[in-house]
Amino acid sequence: MYENSSNIRLTEAPPPYEDIKSPGSPSKANPKYWGRKVWIGVAVGAIVILIAVIVGAVLGVRANAYPNYSKLTYSLADDYSGTGFFDNFDYFTGYDPSSGFVHYVDSAGSQSLNLTYASSSTAILRVDTSDTDASTGRKSVRITSKKQYSSGLFVFDIVNTPYGCSTWPALWLSDASNWPTNGEIDVVEAVNGATSGNQVTLHTTKGCEMDRKRKETGKVLHKNCYNGTNSNAGCGVQGAEDTFGQAFNTNGGGVYAMEWRSAGIRVWFFARSKIPSDITTGSSPDPSSWGTALADFPNTDCSISSHFRNQSIIANIDLCGAWAGSTEVYSTQDGCPGTCTDFVTTNATAFETAFWEWNSWKVYTAA
Ligand SMILES: *[C@@H]1O[C@H](CO)[C@@H](O)[C@H](O)[C@H]1NC(C)=O
Ligand SMILES: *[C@@H]1O[C@H](CO)[C@@H](O)[C@H](O)[C@H]1NC(C)=O
Ligand SMILES: *[C@@H]1O[C@H](CO)[C@@H](O)[C@H](O)[C@H]1NC(C)=O
Ligand SMILES: *[C@@H]1O[C@H](CO)[C@@H](O)[C@H](O)[C@H]1NC(C)=O
Repeated sequence: MYENSSNIRLTEAPPPYEDIKSPGSPSKANPKYWGRKVWIGVAVGAIVILIAVIVGAVLGVRANAYPNYSKLTYSLADDYSGTGFFDNFDYFTGYDPSSGFVHYVDSAGSQSLNLTYASSSTAILRVDTSDTDASTGRKSVRITSKKQYSSGLFVFDIVNTPYGCSTWPALWLSDASNWPTNGEIDVVEAVNGATSGNQVTLHTTKGCEMDRKRKETGKVLHKNCYNGTNSNAGCGVQGAEDTFGQAFNTNGGGVYAMEWRSAGIRVWFFARSKIPSDITTGSSPDPSSWGTALADFPNTDCSISSHFRNQSIIANIDLCGAWAGSTEVYSTQDGCPGTCTDFVTTNATAFETAFWEWNSWKVYTAA
């Protein structure tokens, strides 16, 4: 039968090629006849396998490494709210470091133009809507907290986020005079129509990467935070559409909470109707009870305490500039009309949606 003959053929198969070449040589399959070279080969092979196993184990441990975000007990350190809200800030008036088409107005000017306004219940920061020929840039505001921080829990209760063609609003932390050495934490930021959600982003010097295990609901944009990569795009995480702009405002806004500690930096977003009660009551908010963050930047491949230091809280509304104003973003991605600077110059009423409104900012420090 075919089967049998095939078996016979196998058992009686000719010796391997080498054996045919030198019929007297011993079989390579039997260790008894292995020469020195073969033994060395086997030893090398074993070492290679051992190294592979160790490297694999190390990589596995590394891939699973995750910081210990154990509960910290927070208490209120700074409360930015009420009619004195803006007293806690310096007004930036220099040329825009982000190349925007904007004139940042000082404190007195902002108050007389009503670009900053605080009542007992809210604080507002907005872009000028009166100038119909803002041919050298439109008036806006950039405020920097007098106080600097190197850790803490920052709770921003936001009623309205600015949006509209040419706008580049941000609520962020940085040490602008030591950038990027002391890092930058962008908590709330978007451009133009802001229909693709909030972007939480870190910017650093070399040596801060996020290509590790993270626990977050947002979409990762880039993993290297070093300002020299991806044209200084930073390591960003994007939220859903209702985390910024019109959709966010329509829901009555919400709360962004940013926890900054040596284990990592995490940002949570809560729509107005879903704010945890420990934030509402405000006595001792506990991030360990809030569930998965929107953005998680663990310290596993980034020393948080050495890359992030001495930062002020900054809020501004830039116009055009490096991000919002690039043709690729302004026209192609966000479908805004004409050129960004023409829009800023002529379309004064378009800036009626370009305002921040906050209930309060609260900063908690760990005991
Ligand atoms: C300034 O703005 C606030 C908030 O929009 C408004 O209530 C107030 O009437 C304005 N003040 C002036 C003088 O226009
Ligand atoms: C902290 O930040 C402030 C404001 O940017 C700056 O003037 C100061 O030099 C910084 N201090 C240190 C120690 O970096
Ligand atoms: C990154 O920061 C360094 C140091 O300040 C600066 O020289 C460089 O131009 C920055 N790169 C970008 C793309 O912003
Ligand atoms: C002015 O802004 C409004 C609102 O964004 C927009 O609908 C309109 O097309 C703009 N007009 C021009 C001339 O750009």
